[in-house]
Amino acid sequence: MKKLKLGFMASHGGSNMQAIINNIKSGNLSASAEFLISNNSNSGAIEKAVKEGLPYYHLSNKTFNDEEMKSRITSITMSYDIDLLILAGYMKKLPNEIIDLMDGKVLNIHPALLPKYGGKGMFGMNVHKAVIEANESETGATVHLVNEKYDDGMILKQEKVKISKDETPESLAKKVLSIEHQIYSQTIQEIAEGKIKLF
Ligand code: GRF
Repeated sequence: MKKLKLGFMASHGGSNMQAIINNIKSGNLSASAEFLISNNSNSGAIEKAVKEGLPYYHLSNKTFNDEEMKSRITSITMSYDIDLLILAGYMKKLPNEIIDLMDGKVLNIHPALLPKYGGKGMFGMNVHKAVIEANESETGATVHLVNEKYDDGMILKQEKVKISKDETPESLAKKVLSIEHQIYSQTIQEIAEGKIKLF
């Protein structure tokens, strides 16, 4: 089985990255964590990288313009020779050049059942609020490939959760996040096993 080299990009808590690292450490995932790129120096993701001894790079538009960001992401990605770039709550749009550099092997996770509740502005609690306002009876999480549009690439895995009568956006966010923590690793493992064919 292939052992996949993973690079992470995250802006906030980093709980999805941590869940994947935990699965690698417990032997449930045939992969290695190589680096984190974060645009937020105060992110939980960087804190977690430090604890895990994972090399991290803080690349922000406050310090670098778009071209510099692109060339730094390119050189980090190339120097670690990763198999998959894993977006785990990365709040900036990834330049097309990076998607091309990775030959399309860039994954993202979204806290809804795409193609519903995706696209620009649909992130974080906005998603869960919209789902509840629309009186949906179920929602879920989606792992998908990244293309040039927001939340639009090929869907690799989805899992549903039921919405209860007294659900709040906050309670729903918790439920969905715990599903995310499972399906992101499952998807990567299925890629390593060749059940999902990206290679
Ligand atoms: C998750 O809800 C994910 O779906 C979205 O951003 C959030 C990241 O959470 N893309 P965390 O940083 O992994 O805790």
